[in-house]
Amino acid sequence: MRKERVAVGLDVGTTKVVALVGNIVDGTIEVIGLGKAESHGLEKGVVVDIGRTIASIRKAVEEAENMADVRINTVYVGIAGKHITSINNSGTVSINRPDRIITPDDVRRVVETAQAIQLPPESEMIHIIPRQYIVDGQDGITDPVGMTGTRLEVDVHIVTGAITAVHNLVRCVEALDIGIEQIVLEPLASSMAVLSSAEKELGVVLMDIGGGTTDISVFRGGDIWFSKVIPIAGEHITNDITVGLQTPIEEAELIKKTAGTALVDSVGEDEKVEVATIGGDEKKLASRKKLAKIIEPRIEELLDLAMQEVEDAGYRDLVPAGLVLTGGTSLLNGIAEFASQRYDIPVRLGKIPRGIHGLRDIVESPIYATSIGLLRYAVDAKDFKKRRLDRRKGSLMSKLFTWFNRFFRG
Ligand SMILES: Nc1ncnc2c1ncn2[C@@H]1O[C@H](COP(=O)(O)OP(=O)(O)OP(=O)(O)O)[C@@H](O)[C@H]1O
Ligand SMILES: [Mg+2]
Repeated sequence: MRKERVAVGLDVGTTKVVALVGNIVDGTIEVIGLGKAESHGLEKGVVVDIGRTIASIRKAVEEAENMADVRINTVYVGIAGKHITSINNSGTVSINRPDRIITPDDVRRVVETAQAIQLPPESEMIHIIPRQYIVDGQDGITDPVGMTGTRLEVDVHIVTGAITAVHNLVRCVEALDIGIEQIVLEPLASSMAVLSSAEKELGVVLMDIGGGTTDISVFRGGDIWFSKVIPIAGEHITNDITVGLQTPIEEAELIKKTAGTALVDSVGEDEKVEVATIGGDEKKLASRKKLAKIIEPRIEELLDLAMQEVEDAGYRDLVPAGLVLTGGTSLLNGIAEFASQRYDIPVRLGKIPRGIHGLRDIVESPIYATSIGLLRYAVDAKDFKKRRLDRRKGSLMSKLFTWFNRFFRG
């Protein structure tokens, strides 16, 4: 029987908010609606201004609703920020019934025991992802239900985030009378969009370098082992250009995209770029080499920090498939070459994979990796943290917001 449903991915990024409506037919995704708005309420991946964030989300959602001709009721929403941490843990239960056949209830029990961890203060669990089950010592099992055994173990990857950061994001979405199917770690979402299963099996690092954050994740044996978010990304490069070339921020952003490169050596001494001056109408000529000399050290700092995280976590030598870059900043000229020379590993740019139809020419950009990944998550996830939030149980404040918005959205 043909299985069809609609799911919505909502990526609330530092520079942009994207709402993506997908028609999911037998596991393939057809993108039928896209809404995009500038984001002003976030810093380094975290909501700092609820009102402005709501306004951006509303704009993106309305645009997507109009294009897809659907009403968006629930979303899969991405979360990032340096408050995110991840822990690996395991749990064990014994099966004492005479038949010793493992039931879904045993699986729930064992996953529950694996959650007995000391959470960082003021934080809550966002994901509880079983990596593998072990039945009477036999490991590598993905679904133990129906097998026989006396001892069931599980290895889980637990992702936690700061309660306030999670709640602020939730409030922004619910204020628009939209329910949350699930909060999804952005690096996890991006990985579902751009990594191949072969890469995940072999061992790979994914970096989603956006505007405000660089999201790092490590995969091995098909599963996520490590995730971390660092608060440096494309906006820092733009700010450096603003200062270094004495030019307005919009101009710095434009020059970065059109003439910027991460490879100083690839630029000739006499190459020039035209840039606007601050507060004046005239343009001046700046050296492209100088521009590259502003960008390269920032990229070097950013990638070094990110690779150090991978090293500190003990995965530096366990990722033979190398590094995959995605997010808007992965479009920076020369970034892949720079990384592969510096760390002597294979580096590729993450492209949206097969299995996605509709609006392909638009959503193929790495800028949409997270939102496409949120739709993939809606299809494939094996997460134990179900967060179907009941909107009616919201706080008084969010109820007021809801009322207000229902009034205006009709
Ligand atoms: N061609 C390009 N060259 C260099 N940088 C680019 C290019 N295109 C986009 N960017 C940069 O990508 C960044 C935005 O990326 P993205 O849309 O992935 O971020 P975001 O999801 O809004 O932010 P975050 O994930 O950090 O919260 C901006 O800093 C932008 O300048
Ligand atoms: Mg992003």
